Amino acid sequence: MPYPEELKKFIRKVEKTRPGRIEKRKRGEEFPFMSAEEREEMLKYHPDYKEEGRREIKIGPNKGYRIAHEFVDLLEAKSRVDPDAVDLSQVDAVTDVLIIGGGGAGTAAALLAQENGAKVILATKLRHGDANTMMAEGGIQAASKGWKDSPYFHYLDVMGGGHFKNDPELVYTLVTEAPDLLRWFESLGVMFSKSPDGRLETMHGGGTSRKRLHSCADITGADVMRALRDEARNRSQDIKVLEFSPAVELILNEHGDCAGALLYNMDTEEYFIVKAKATILATGGCGRLHVQGFPTTNHYGATADGIALGYRAGVKLKFLHTIQYHPTCAIFPEQIEGLLITERFRGAGADVLNVDGEKFVNEREPRDVESGAYVKECLVRGKGVPTPTGKLGIWVDSPMIDIIYGEGAVKRLFIGKWKIYDRQGIDISKDPMLVYPGLHYQNGGLENNANCETSVPGLFIAGEVTGGLHGENRLMGNSMLDVHVFGRIAGENAALYAKEKAREAKLTLDHVRVYHKEMEEAGIVTDRVAPMLLPDYTNPEVRKRQLTAHYVGTLR
Ligand code: FUM
Repeated sequence: MPYPEELKKFIRKVEKTRPGRIEKRKRGEEFPFMSAEEREEMLKYHPDYKEEGRREIKIGPNKGYRIAHEFVDLLEAKSRVDPDAVDLSQVDAVTDVLIIGGGGAGTAAALLAQENGAKVILATKLRHGDANTMMAEGGIQAASKGWKDSPYFHYLDVMGGGHFKNDPELVYTLVTEAPDLLRWFESLGVMFSKSPDGRLETMHGGGTSRKRLHSCADITGADVMRALRDEARNRSQDIKVLEFSPAVELILNEHGDCAGALLYNMDTEEYFIVKAKATILATGGCGRLHVQGFPTTNHYGATADGIALGYRAGVKLKFLHTIQYHPTCAIFPEQIEGLLITERFRGAGADVLNVDGEKFVNEREPRDVESGAYVKECLVRGKGVPTPTGKLGIWVDSPMIDIIYGEGAVKRLFIGKWKIYDRQGIDISKDPMLVYPGLHYQNGGLENNANCETSVPGLFIAGEVTGGLHGENRLMGNSMLDVHVFGRIAGENAALYAKEKAREAKLTLDHVRVYHKEMEEAGIVTDRVAPMLLPDYTNPEVRKRQLTAHYVGTLR
């Protein structure tokens, strides 16, 4: 369905301000960036800063920590299994390295573990590759242009974006490994967008001081995942992939080391035990928890399973009080609500506009600041665009890209998005898109070090399930970098651990018994179980949250 008449009258306002904006662009006039103080002020409108959105967790290693209610609900929940009913002497499979999660981090880990001599089992909840990595659009940051950029500038940008709270060692590893990661991807056949002379195309992202964002049009994740998955499949002698087999509990041994996991076969509804010398958690993020009722850009299985598994096993949380709300997620048409509208649109020159067709923020502010500005514009300044579905949104003026780069540029540079809107009867090279912030990334997670080790020997973690690297806010293009840089490190170190350090001992689920007891002592009476595995959209409350942005703020 094309935009209805009631929106067209607002589109005309956008069209009216376009010539003036083009003139300003020609003169090199940019909407000013905010000062540090102004940014601080703007963050008050960011959902993370709503104290009523969180509460203290009553149990576990971070007892007393205030995090989103949805996370507390997940962590103050029982195991899906009664530990007394599981016979740990009946092991179904044995391997050197068990990887839980089949997205970018898990698959990169599998490849590196195999290259370091390990036999690998990769267990994934849905199909191999059904993960947030696959849905990544905008690209990967890496300082590839030595004469203009360097890991030094990249480091400063990451730290600045994270409010200088990031773990410096993790950031150092991220930025120094980045150029090599690009080379690795190219060697695996990832098809990066290049200029006619063969050089990698680069673009700006929010909060970046240099153009260092590399992409495969606007379907970067799909191409990276294709290449990684093909490579893993080519090594099927050593890498066994178990699809539709999520982990429901980590298994420890009597030394307290991680020794594998209890998996669940979603087809046969049977539990089975995989014993491993080393285990890697790479379960991804949390969008499907719909924190504060926001819609999400995340894939169907993004239910923060790893957080529940790792926390119960004793791994601490870090920075989980911050969640990333991507500024530009589709808010209309309703059928695509929550769909990611990549930041690359803004990097390429699409203006962000209010109901009067006016700019109100620089398009390249760090993500949390940018999101705060949209919320303020809609809810405080009353300048949001009213949608036919009763929400408020902000325009992303995509036709500017054809004006800047020539006709056909939107379709060429943003083919994925162009097609999705085309199916809705909307040509985004002619009309703008309506957006509002949505849940995009789990900034924080479980604590690890730069070797991807956790406080539990034999348990490694990588990707979105971890916390510390991005501090309190991640910048665009650093997630595709994060999950693969640390996925590779986790794979290599897990293989070495399996070879040199793993200790044999009796398997146990005692940590689950202890956790249940702690819940009881804290007076937590609940029938909730975790991990959640899949969102329950048959539950009217959850369904309402998914299908409409029932975050009270977006309602008129
Ligand atoms: O806007 C985007 O394409 C998102 C990228 C990211 O989260 O890194």
